[in-house]
Amino acid sequence: MSREARIHLLVGGVASAACLAAGAAYSLRSPFPGWWPLGTFLFVATLLEGLTTTRLRVAARGSTSFVMHLAAALLFGGFWAGVVAGVSTFLGELSRANSSLKIAFNVSQRILSVSLAVSAYILAGGELPPAYLSVDGALSSAAVQRDLGLFFLFATVYFLVNSISVSSAVALSSDRAFREVWNLNTRGVLGYDLGASAIAVLVAWLYTRFDHWLGFGSIGLIGVILPIIAVRHIYGLYHQLQDSGQELLQVMVKAIEARDPYTSGHSVRVSELSRTIAVELGLPAREVEQIETAALLHDVGKIHEEFAPLLRKEGRLTPEETALMQTHSAKSAELVGIISKFKGFIQDSVRHHHERWDGEGYPVGLSGKNIPLGSRIILISDTIDAMTTDRPYRKRLPLEIVIAELQKCKGTQFDADLVEVVVSSVGVRRLIAGPSAELEHREVMPGRSRRVSWPAGALWKIRGA
Ligand SMILES: [Fe+2]
Repeated sequence: MSREARIHLLVGGVASAACLAAGAAYSLRSPFPGWWPLGTFLFVATLLEGLTTTRLRVAARGSTSFVMHLAAALLFGGFWAGVVAGVSTFLGELSRANSSLKIAFNVSQRILSVSLAVSAYILAGGELPPAYLSVDGALSSAAVQRDLGLFFLFATVYFLVNSISVSSAVALSSDRAFREVWNLNTRGVLGYDLGASAIAVLVAWLYTRFDHWLGFGSIGLIGVILPIIAVRHIYGLYHQLQDSGQELLQVMVKAIEARDPYTSGHSVRVSELSRTIAVELGLPAREVEQIETAALLHDVGKIHEEFAPLLRKEGRLTPEETALMQTHSAKSAELVGIISKFKGFIQDSVRHHHERWDGEGYPVGLSGKNIPLGSRIILISDTIDAMTTDRPYRKRLPLEIVIAELQKCKGTQFDADLVEVVVSSVGVRRLIAGPSAELEHREVMPGRSRRVSWPAGALWKIRGA
């Protein structure tokens, strides 16, 4: 089945599931709340929908409108919360001129998330509206505790459905494994989102109080919007911080390439290959990300002035020049270590990226598993890229020769287990077979179009253009 067909099937499946879930939620306590409350929640949710934050390294976008979806669900039930979620998402998507397929998917997955979450909450014994929102003063503490506990079940189901459906769509549309995208999208985020979702309880509580005493007027609206804007601001600061880190990496990579034009794009390709191998090994997402960064920076030490004449030299290097050149990995590690968060795993992976399995490499002569895994992966990726790109003295080598070369050097230069993973992996083979076609149109930073992520938060949707 083609990728297009699979994406259409996914969108159709999510849309059908959303209709069924909304129907089920309607039959499970969802009386019409009235036009004024519905309109108010729709207005605020649509407003927040416009204040989205984009994650550069995954094709997803987040917004804090989920707070209004969850609050609406607590007050009005799953069906009307689905109406708030669906309509506000639709209006937000229209303003971004997204394709109709993306609009259909994003509207459907949000209706599905909120409807399923409410159904799970009610089926688990939760009350709507919850006991803690009661305004008549006759509160049963057992009921309050039960409904507060079940709120976290409700929010967990909501974020799970949201992240699973969005990760499926991102995985399908970017040819990446679901598990990888889901890990990257959700790792470290779920707890954060659950914490932020408690604001929905506050919003619902404020709504019931102001509704009871004053009617849900401007004071109530400000009380609702301010904490949400604050959360959104924190998300925004977090993303700005992460983006500035990415920009710094981009500067470093550009600096290496300016020094050594023959290796234009080399760092990015080695980084891509290393990431693919690390994913194939089933490493945790954080380690994958660190190996990708180490691979990107493995030759950054070559920007030192002393290497300039060696990089420009046309013929073979003399033994003295070779010895000097071999100090580049230690120099790279030194530079990488200036950034405190790169100390440790990333710095070690960079320092030892020319160590050989048989101990004949440099700078230290480590052997076997004493060589950091990141370094062993980078060495294979580095070698593959050298063989699969055109050089002044020869054309790129075909896949069979690359694989034969890797097999020949396993146990001496390379980790034999890693070579087996590389030659049997479809993803790696695809990159080896056509690295130029796959990678040459990418920007210098691999993350800009699609890839690894960091803990963030909020509700994610597939990104528009
Ligand atoms: Fe190197």
